[in-house]
Amino acid sequence: MTKAVSGFSKLTKEEKINWIVETHFSNTIEAKNIIKQYWNDDATLQKLHDEFIENTITNFYLPLGVAPNFTINGKNYTIPFAVEESSVVAAASKAAKFWGNRGGFKTTIINTEKIGQVHFIYKGDKQKLEQFFNEVKPKFFSETESITKNMQKRGGGILDIKLSDKTVDLENYYQLHATFETKDSMGANFINSCLEQFAKTLKEEALNFTSFTEEEKNITVVMSILSNYVPNCLVRAEVSCKVEDLAEKHIENPQEFAEKFVQAVRIAEIEPYRAVTHNKGIMNGIDAVVIATGNDFRAVEAGVHAYASKDGKYSSLSHAKIENGIFTFWMEIPLALGTVGGLTSLHPLVKVALEMLEKPSAQELMQIVAVAGLAQNFAALRSLTTTGIQQGHMKMHLMNILNQFNATEEERKQVVKHFERNTVTHSAVVDYLAEIRK
Ligand code: MEV
Repeated sequence: MTKAVSGFSKLTKEEKINWIVETHFSNTIEAKNIIKQYWNDDATLQKLHDEFIENTITNFYLPLGVAPNFTINGKNYTIPFAVEESSVVAAASKAAKFWGNRGGFKTTIINTEKIGQVHFIYKGDKQKLEQFFNEVKPKFFSETESITKNMQKRGGGILDIKLSDKTVDLENYYQLHATFETKDSMGANFINSCLEQFAKTLKEEALNFTSFTEEEKNITVVMSILSNYVPNCLVRAEVSCKVEDLAEKHIENPQEFAEKFVQAVRIAEIEPYRAVTHNKGIMNGIDAVVIATGNDFRAVEAGVHAYASKDGKYSSLSHAKIENGIFTFWMEIPLALGTVGGLTSLHPLVKVALEMLEKPSAQELMQIVAVAGLAQNFAALRSLTTTGIQQGHMKMHLMNILNQFNATEEERKQVVKHFERNTVTHSAVVDYLAEIRK
């Protein structure tokens, strides 16, 4: 068993690596080489990355791919994706091309409201608490002025603060439930700073509120934190065309395809096991763009899946219908994103990704990300309801298998050619490689 280490964070990077390889690896030289192989030669760039987190020992690469030809509200985009799954970018590009030829993607911002809460315990008369809240409410705004000044200049700020009684669910539990507009920033730091000031004001003002008894004055703030559930920070993405216009390779009968597609979405709407995988496919596109643009994909994931359960049962995020000969496929999704602050001005590749998208506002980025999700979902459902998913997936996975077996350039060419006409499976590739290596 490994012994615990003390003062690890105080060690230099070299010392940390030495401790790790000596403690956990049998081949210390090889482990050290691999770790260091991923260091960047540019010391300034490496230092920047080292300082993003604590105890950095190296970099962990994800491929950054692009899918061009996305038409969104008539504008053309090249969308960057940071993702390791082999089929995601190819699927996005295919869906972009398919819908580019059929009017493109249409998106609308439904709302951009963010949420934060101060969770507190108050033991006493509810009416007195309400009276207290109404009296001190202006102070929550005035005492956060130094925090909100700049945000207000950009058109954002605190929208409202409400007192919420949660005592039915938990004894003596109340909240300050606040809503915010954070414009082009994701707003986590802004919201949390406001909330911590609200909490301070709440506690201090309670001590001065003469109608409170001594016990009532003693409000306990349990915590102050933004919510990653943002059902009112919502974007809609949609595609539609005449059913007959869906015809393409593998879609010989567009009516049949459209009906099967709608059925597939219905299944995800009513069946949670399918819904989770269906939504995972949507997140393949969403997370990849969220990561490439320096946003917090854990926050997005948490909020999106909570939204998928908003009606009490986990369900599909996307929907589809055929009405009057028109096929429509759409999705409404909560996305709290930023194009300023956080990593956006720090990470050189994030800056590149944002410039590739022509420096979008947070609202524009919400629309692009939603489209990446819908496109991915379309591509997955199209494959699932026609050829099956493995044909495309295994074609993309072929390179991984070839890399695993250190195939030479010549072998690669031969294998790729062979599998243009044959079904790719792991064992078929291994067998074929063995055959040509004989
Ligand atoms: C794989 O990463 C994603 C899919 O499973 C999504 C789906 O089933 O809809 C193909």
